[in-house]
Amino acid sequence: INLNVSATGGNASSPLTYGLMFEDINHSGDGGIYAELIQNRAFQGSLEYPSTLTPWVSVGDAVLTLQNTSVPLSKSLPTSINVASNSTNGTIGLLNPGWWGIDVKPQKYTGSFWALGSYKGKFTVKLQSDLTEEVFASLDLPSSATPGKWVEHKFELEPRIAAPNINNTFVLEFDSRAGSLNFNLISLFPPTYNNRPNGNRPDLMEALKDLSGSFFRIPGGNNIEGDAYHYPWLWNETIGPLTERPGRPGTWGYENTDGLGLVEYLNWCTDLSVTPILAVWDGMYLGDEADHILTASELEPWVQYALDELEFILGPSNSTHGALRTQLGHPEPWELKYVEIGNEDDLYDKGPETYSAYRFPMFYEAISAAYPDLIIISSTGDYTAVGGTNTSNPSATDYHIYTRPDYFVSQFGHFDNASREHKSLIGEYACVQGNVYNQVVGVDWDALRLPWTPWVGSVSEAIFSLGAERNSDTIIGMSYAPGFQNLNSYEWAPDLIAFTADPSQTIKSTSHHVIELLSNNRYNATVPVTTDSDFGPAYWVAGVSEPGHYTFKTAIYNSTSSVPFSISFEGLSEGVKGTLSVLSAPDGLSSNTLENGVVSDVVRKTVTTLAAGSGGVFEFELDNYDVAVLTT
Ligand code: AHR
Repeated sequence: INLNVSATGGNASSPLTYGLMFEDINHSGDGGIYAELIQNRAFQGSLEYPSTLTPWVSVGDAVLTLQNTSVPLSKSLPTSINVASNSTNGTIGLLNPGWWGIDVKPQKYTGSFWALGSYKGKFTVKLQSDLTEEVFASLDLPSSATPGKWVEHKFELEPRIAAPNINNTFVLEFDSRAGSLNFNLISLFPPTYNNRPNGNRPDLMEALKDLSGSFFRIPGGNNIEGDAYHYPWLWNETIGPLTERPGRPGTWGYENTDGLGLVEYLNWCTDLSVTPILAVWDGMYLGDEADHILTASELEPWVQYALDELEFILGPSNSTHGALRTQLGHPEPWELKYVEIGNEDDLYDKGPETYSAYRFPMFYEAISAAYPDLIIISSTGDYTAVGGTNTSNPSATDYHIYTRPDYFVSQFGHFDNASREHKSLIGEYACVQGNVYNQVVGVDWDALRLPWTPWVGSVSEAIFSLGAERNSDTIIGMSYAPGFQNLNSYEWAPDLIAFTADPSQTIKSTSHHVIELLSNNRYNATVPVTTDSDFGPAYWVAGVSEPGHYTFKTAIYNSTSSVPFSISFEGLSEGVKGTLSVLSAPDGLSSNTLENGVVSDVVRKTVTTLAAGSGGVFEFELDNYDVAVLTT
């Protein structure tokens, strides 16, 4: 393949070309990146998922029951656990196995619990092996428990040695002579990323940081919408002290604690230097065909609700919600440039119709009047459904694609003829199924999903991404979804990063490697490439950061032989050096997996220094399913 790359003449690239998307799915938040180690710490429940004792276990002869005491810990956390004993001799308590295990290391664990009752003795908190009961850390602390009043107890545990595995539990014990005590909000955090209180797991944050993303789409996905029980994600119930966060039934089959809330998301953006793309709920519930879309008048308070959220994020400290932000320790507004109205509003019979008739316009008009600089993104993926009345504010849409390798590759040119007036966010994309003979269109949601992304799927995503990069003047950016999968409990596979409670078992998918390579090799503008070859089996894009500094990206799909490249870059002459980074895998079906507790990483990266030959031509060969970047 002979390619001539021009020095100028393309389009400016979006500074946000690669980004991250997050929603609590697959226990990616609770039990995932949110570092809280105690599962069901506050017995939160709802109509959909009533409060439960799971996974708490009694210690000694303790009897555990859920109680709504006459004095609740808070209005938001009315249910507590009562720990009672009939005997007056011995130790009783309760034990929590964490989110399918607890990683115990010689590091500081910060804990707290609230107690109610009459007890003047001591509490003992421990981290111990579930299998052998070996105690790794133990601490006695005096009880301040008082009848009729909830009292918080704080402690730190510091194991001297690491546990050999994650089969560990947290134990809270006391003297059975106390008779009966109530506990709530029993919490234990390991060190967190950037040492944020109520923060995130460092290893999973590092796995995100590797991707050098530029934006962060939050808080959904479907998890913003709520399903048949009509519980959308409520920003104001996810802020402030944990005692004031009631939680909600998430869309993905479990109660969300909302410990990971709006402020935590925005801090996360600060920690990873990414810009938020904030979704607001727009009146569409999932899963209840009868009445899942609000009427215009029902929607009005929700428009105000979204404006209040924006004021919380952007407003001055003397505004009502800016003052609330200040009160919570954030006097300065956060940076926010993008707001998305809903999620996948092309779903359901009346989704698109009501979206363009009144739902999108109501939000668009109110938000753009109050915040004219915000870029408002529609969620239909359809240019015709964006707009509103204020045409001076550029509109954008969020296009999602979950598909098969062949179809991804066929979509390399998807944005070639897109409107340049409206921009696209590719807020979710992933190869979720293998190819099926004779079927290249889309995805069959009734067919089995891939458990892990195979390399061929990641290559096809790379090709789709290169096609988007070629059209970066119309693309805001792209984010793979879903981001995380707790291997002990998940609803959706494959995912970008899979994990267990054991940080040594974090699996970066083959797609993670591809995004890491493509995202870490950005450029300022695309540049034209002339050639006598068609796209396929090689697909490419070229860009320039500054004169002489080119980036050429390519991926090979379905080639029966190796593919030779001869590339000249305008202005570069013989002897100029380039760096060729190539990702490959043993074959297209290889995946990164966890088997028998062992992480396999099939992706190989080779980095070679090349020198331009006569006429400034770089020559190299790539194999089928290689993904490569050449930089000069
Ligand atoms: O990423 C999983 C789900 O796929 C998202 O919640 C939703 O937006 C899409 O349908």
